[in-house]
Amino acid sequence: MKKLFLSLFVISFGIGISAQKSVAQKVSELLAKMTIEEKAGQLSQLNSDWEDLTGPILQKKDEDKVALIQQGKLGSVLNVRSVAQTRMLQEYAMKSRLKIPLLFGQDVIHGFRTSFPVNIGQAASWDLGLIEKSERIAATEASAFGIHWTFAPMVDISRDPRWGRVMEGSGEDTYLGSLIGVARVKGFQGKGLGNIDAVMATAKHFAAYGAAVGGRDYNSVDMSLRQLHEIYLPPFKAAAEAGVATFMNSFNDINGIPATGSKYLQRDLLKNKWGFKGFVVSDWGSVIEMVNHGFAKDKTDASLKAILAGSDMDMESRAYIESLPQLVKDGKVDIKIIDDAVRRVLTKKFELGLFDDPFKFCNDERQKQQTNNAEHRKFGREFGAKSVVLIKNETQILPLSKSTKTVALIGPFGKETVANHGFWSVPFNDDKERIITQFDGIKNQLDKSSTLLYAKGCNVDDQDRSMFEEAVETAKKADVVIMTLGEGHDMSGEAKSRSNIHFSGVQEELLKEIHKTGKPIILMINAGRPLVFDWASDNIPTIIYTWWLGTEAGNSIADVIFGTANPGGKLPMSFPRTEGQIPVYYNHYNTGRPAAKSTDRNYVSAYIDLDNDPKYPFGFGLSYTDFSYSDFKLSSESLTANQTLTVNVTITNKGNFDGEEVAQLYIRDLVGKVVRPVKELKGFQKIFLKKGESKTLTFKLSPESLKFYDDDLNYDWEEGEFDIMIGTNSNDVQTKRIYWRK
Ligand code: NOJ
Repeated sequence: MKKLFLSLFVISFGIGISAQKSVAQKVSELLAKMTIEEKAGQLSQLNSDWEDLTGPILQKKDEDKVALIQQGKLGSVLNVRSVAQTRMLQEYAMKSRLKIPLLFGQDVIHGFRTSFPVNIGQAASWDLGLIEKSERIAATEASAFGIHWTFAPMVDISRDPRWGRVMEGSGEDTYLGSLIGVARVKGFQGKGLGNIDAVMATAKHFAAYGAAVGGRDYNSVDMSLRQLHEIYLPPFKAAAEAGVATFMNSFNDINGIPATGSKYLQRDLLKNKWGFKGFVVSDWGSVIEMVNHGFAKDKTDASLKAILAGSDMDMESRAYIESLPQLVKDGKVDIKIIDDAVRRVLTKKFELGLFDDPFKFCNDERQKQQTNNAEHRKFGREFGAKSVVLIKNETQILPLSKSTKTVALIGPFGKETVANHGFWSVPFNDDKERIITQFDGIKNQLDKSSTLLYAKGCNVDDQDRSMFEEAVETAKKADVVIMTLGEGHDMSGEAKSRSNIHFSGVQEELLKEIHKTGKPIILMINAGRPLVFDWASDNIPTIIYTWWLGTEAGNSIADVIFGTANPGGKLPMSFPRTEGQIPVYYNHYNTGRPAAKSTDRNYVSAYIDLDNDPKYPFGFGLSYTDFSYSDFKLSSESLTANQTLTVNVTITNKGNFDGEEVAQLYIRDLVGKVVRPVKELKGFQKIFLKKGESKTLTFKLSPESLKFYDDDLNYDWEEGEFDIMIGTNSNDVQTKRIYWRK
C-alpha cells in the first residue's frame, strides 16, 4: 500500500514537474537529442498525392515519403485532408526514433467543406465580423479533417486585375487589407493554438507578390523600399502583430533578390525588427526555383541561401532534406541557424498540443459532424449575399417580383455546380451534391405559378455559337431575362493571369444577341477579379457582381435578386475601363500635370484615347435603397500634435428598403517631403438603417493615421494642411480642410 502510494506520488510529482516545464525547455531538450538529419527533416515539407477522402490510399510515388517519415526525416506534409489519412501518416511518424508528430498543412482559402465567396468577394462585404466568422468556421471544419495549418490569409495588396490571384486577396487598399488580414488570422487561430478547433494561419506571400510586373503570375517585382513599406508590407506587419503563427515567402524576386533568399525581408525585418516568433515556410518549390532565378547555382546553393536568409521550412523542393546536413558538416551553415529554425517549428507543434496527443485532430465523430454542417451553410448563404455588389439598377427592376410570370436564366453559369466553389476548393471540386446552383436557388424562390426557363447560350470559354438561337428563343418567351456571364472559376487564381479580362469566349456576343430581343435584362457577373465589361456597362441598365459565392451561391443570389437581402457590397478594387488603363487605383499621386477633369487629355497626365478615372471606383456599390450624407462636421479645423480629430456625419436612408451602407473616410496630406496620394482610406463604418432612419457616425483620427515613410524610411507625420473626406465611395466624397500643427 505504502509502495503504491509512493509510486503514485512519484508519478504525479513527475507529471507536475514536466507540466511546469516551459515549451522552450521542452524544445531545448528535444533539440539536444536530434541528429542533423532529423533537424533537416523538421525543416522540410512534402506534398501528398492522396486524393481519396474516404480512406488511406498509398500511391507508389508516396512510398519514399513514408520511409522518410518513419526515419524521422520529414516534419510536415501538405494536402493530406482526412482523419483516416492524417492518422495513417501520424502512425508512421510515431514509429520514428523521437516520435516527433507531423504537421499537416492545407490551403484553406475561402472555406473548407462549406465554401464561402472567393476572398475578393468577401472583401467586398467590408464586414470584418463576417470575415472572421467565416474563417472560424473554416478552421472548425478543417481541424475536424485532421488539418493543423492553413496557408492563408493571403494579404498581398494588388493593383492589377490581370493577376489571377487578386481573387484570393482583399484588393488594392492597404488599410482595408490589413484589417481583413487580421480578422482572418483571428478567425483561423480562434482562442489560440492548442484548442481543438484552431488552425495555424499563414501570412503570405512575403512579400510584394501582388506587384508582379504586368500582372503576370510569378513575375519579378521592382519597387522603391518606400512603396514596399507603405503599400505592401503593412498587412504583413499587422498579421504578425495579431499573432499569426507562420509566414510564407513568395515566388517573386524583389528588387533583384528572390524573396526566398531575402535576408532583408525574412531576417532583418520580420524576425529581428518585427520580433516574429513563428516560422517561415517557403512557397512551393521556391527554394529550388532560385536556380531558375539565376540566384543560386544548384540545389545545395539554393538551400544555403534560403536558410541563411531565414526561410525556415522548405516546401516541396527537397533541398533542405538533401543538402542541409552536408552544409552544416562543411561548416557553411552554423548549427545555431538550423537550431533556431527547428526551434520555431517544434514550438508550434508543442503549442498545437501535438506532443501531448499526436492524434488530437483525428476524431472520426468530429469529421462527420463537419462534413455537411447546416449551420455553416446558413452562414454561407448570408455571407454570399453580403458579398454581392450592385453595380447598376437604373430601371429599378431589382428586387425582382417573385410573381414575375416568366423568367429566363441564360448563360453558361446558370446550372454550373462545382464552379461556385471558386478556385481554391481543390479537395472537394467533385462535390456536386451539396452545391446550390443559380437555377435551383432562383427556382426555389420564384412563385409556384411562375415559370423559370433556362438556356446555356454558350460555353464559358470557346467560340461555339451554336446555342445562341435557342437562347434567343428562350429570351423571347420571358418577361425578364437574367443573364449569368463572366469568367470560369478556374480562370482566376494561381497561374491564372489574363491579358484580356473581358467576359471569356463568346459571352459578350451572346449578351448582344439577347439584348436585341428588347427584353429587360438583369446581368449577373461571375468572376474572381474585376472584369472589363464596357459594352454591358454602357448598354445594360441592371448589373450585379456576384464573384463566386460558394456552396450556397444559388440561394445567396436568389436572396439578392428577390430582395430578401439588400446588396450592400462595395468594390475593394478599382474596375478599369480597359486593360490598357491597368494599373488604375484610387490612391495614386497627383503628378505634376494632373487632369482637372477625368476627360482632360491635353498635355496632362492622361491617355489621348481614354478617360483617366476607372469605370467603377474603389469603394463603389449601390443598394436597393438610397443613402444621403449630411451634417459633415469636424471637431476643429486647427489641431495640435496631442489632439484627436472627431469627424461626424449623418447618414439617412431615404429610399424604400432597409439596407446597409459603408461610409468611408479618406484623407489627403497636401504637401509632404515625399508626395502623398490624392486619397488614403483611414476609416470606414458599415451600418444598417431601416427605411427613413438616420444615424450620426463618429470617426476619430489621430496623428498616427497621418504617418508615412519618407525616403530614408523614417515613419512619421508632418505639420500641414490635410483634406478630410467622407463619402459613399472613393470618388463621391465631401471634403473639408484642416491644419494639423506638430
Ligand atoms: C503555391 C501557392 O503560391 C501558395 O499560395 C500555396 O499555399 C502553395 N502552392 C501550396 O499549395
